[in-house]
Amino acid sequence: MTGAPQTRVVVVGSGIAGLTAALELAERPGVAVTLVAKGALKDSATRLAQGGVAAVTSLDDTVASHVADTLAAGAGLCDEEAVRALCGEGPAAVATLLSRGVRFDLHEGRFARGLEAAHAHARILHAGGDATGAAIVAALLGQLAAAPIAVRERAMVLDVVVTEGRARGVRLLGGELLPADAVVLATGGSGRLYPCTTNPAGATADGVAMALRAGAAVADLEFVQFHPTALAVPGHPLVSEAVRGEGAVLRAADGRRFLADAHPDAELAPRDVVARAIAAQLARQGGAPVLLDATALGARFLAERFPTIDATVRGHGFDWSREAIPVEPVAHYAMGGVRTDLSGRTSLPGLFAVGETTCTGVHGANRLASNSLLEGAVFGRRVAAAILQADATAAWPEPAWPEQAWPELASPAQARPEPIALPAAHGELPFDRAELQRLLWDAAGLVRDAEGLARAAAVLCSWAPPEPTSVEAAETANLWLVARALVAGALARRESRGAHHRRDFPQPHPSPASRSTVLVDETGADASGSAPALEPAHA
Ligand code: SIN
Repeated sequence: MTGAPQTRVVVVGSGIAGLTAALELAERPGVAVTLVAKGALKDSATRLAQGGVAAVTSLDDTVASHVADTLAAGAGLCDEEAVRALCGEGPAAVATLLSRGVRFDLHEGRFARGLEAAHAHARILHAGGDATGAAIVAALLGQLAAAPIAVRERAMVLDVVVTEGRARGVRLLGGELLPADAVVLATGGSGRLYPCTTNPAGATADGVAMALRAGAAVADLEFVQFHPTALAVPGHPLVSEAVRGEGAVLRAADGRRFLADAHPDAELAPRDVVARAIAAQLARQGGAPVLLDATALGARFLAERFPTIDATVRGHGFDWSREAIPVEPVAHYAMGGVRTDLSGRTSLPGLFAVGETTCTGVHGANRLASNSLLEGAVFGRRVAAAILQADATAAWPEPAWPEQAWPELASPAQARPEPIALPAAHGELPFDRAELQRLLWDAAGLVRDAEGLARAAAVLCSWAPPEPTSVEAAETANLWLVARALVAGALARRESRGAHHRRDFPQPHPSPASRSTVLVDETGADASGSAPALEPAHA
């Protein structure tokens, strides 16, 4: 039987970004979608998201205000056009989530809107109190079950297959090849570069590593957001910023509030400011815990508004309605990632990326709270639209590159920034993942300097990544590659901006417009290519 030609799309990842892209694509005729998830479908960072979705949904709020807040948090590094797309399309993305069955919490018949740090308005929609991500995942997975999408659960994608300068599909652990006209990387973040993180076990930077090996550019990896308030217990469960948004305060070990010394907005200052202030306070008090005091909110409110956190905190033996709880900053979110344009196109034709695995320019140097679920919802729709509009038989349009390059790395005359090549690594020493995580925590954590970063770069280059013969080994090899790129970016960025703080360059660079740090792995292009015979559907 012959049918209309199909555009084959492989989506890698099952968080809000991947699910949105897959569902949007599968609604159209002529598209055959395969969604591949490394673990169980539900095991994404999205499921753990507590705060909610930031979007303008009330008459007293404006998109311009949301744009201004996002740009301010991004500390001069955001791409304004990308931010306008993110915030401007927020209400439509919320409408899509509603139509897909997400039930945001209501108060007196209207959306209950929470306040979070660095937002001028209470605009955070939440579901199940603090179970927003879980509610979104449940709704989208419900839709997935009824959609014409081939699902490969517990299948790890090792690499993008590249032949003749174009993505042709993916190769799974075990060797199976999935041919595709378009590959969408939606693998989430890289929190597992660090020993302490709010991220799930699968957040091992797989998409960024695959893009690097495929020869696609990545950008701004040095910007890692540390969430100020993880519960200071093993596993570091998140205590949402929304708790401070409702009025909880931070106290030093002696009970004194200290955040106002760091920023006029105190507990609601941007996340990087709060995280560094807590780290400095921890050091001043010899490691004794900093405390989050939510006692004024009352037991009933805490249980109703934050049921997930309430259960977690009580499960660790704290009655947070009566006592302040110990908190500390841990790795939370990657602002950098695979460089894409506003349609999710990477620098490699046929390769797209969406969500936390990307650097679209919406977050700049520091993401505004609750803009991450929004990014997945908005750009999941955008990447699907771009693939649907493209003619699969033609070359994909060239991605848009930032006009400017980081001034010390490329001449201003160059329209396209000259990416930094990742230094070659020919080391032979075996290492284990915990060593890598400790190295990054010490050298590329909340505060960095050239000496520590250069030492980390040398150590990373002296190591040999494990052969990717198991999920664990493949993840560790991915972490190693992305760690090298992150450290190279952090060394190159000789300034402090947003989440990237250099004690040897404590001020932002004075140039009026800040620039992205773009990296490529020149040894990586076509590295996936055992050059298997994967041809586009309409070749
Ligand atoms: C939080 O609830 O504090 C985390 C939400 C986010 O990372 O935006």
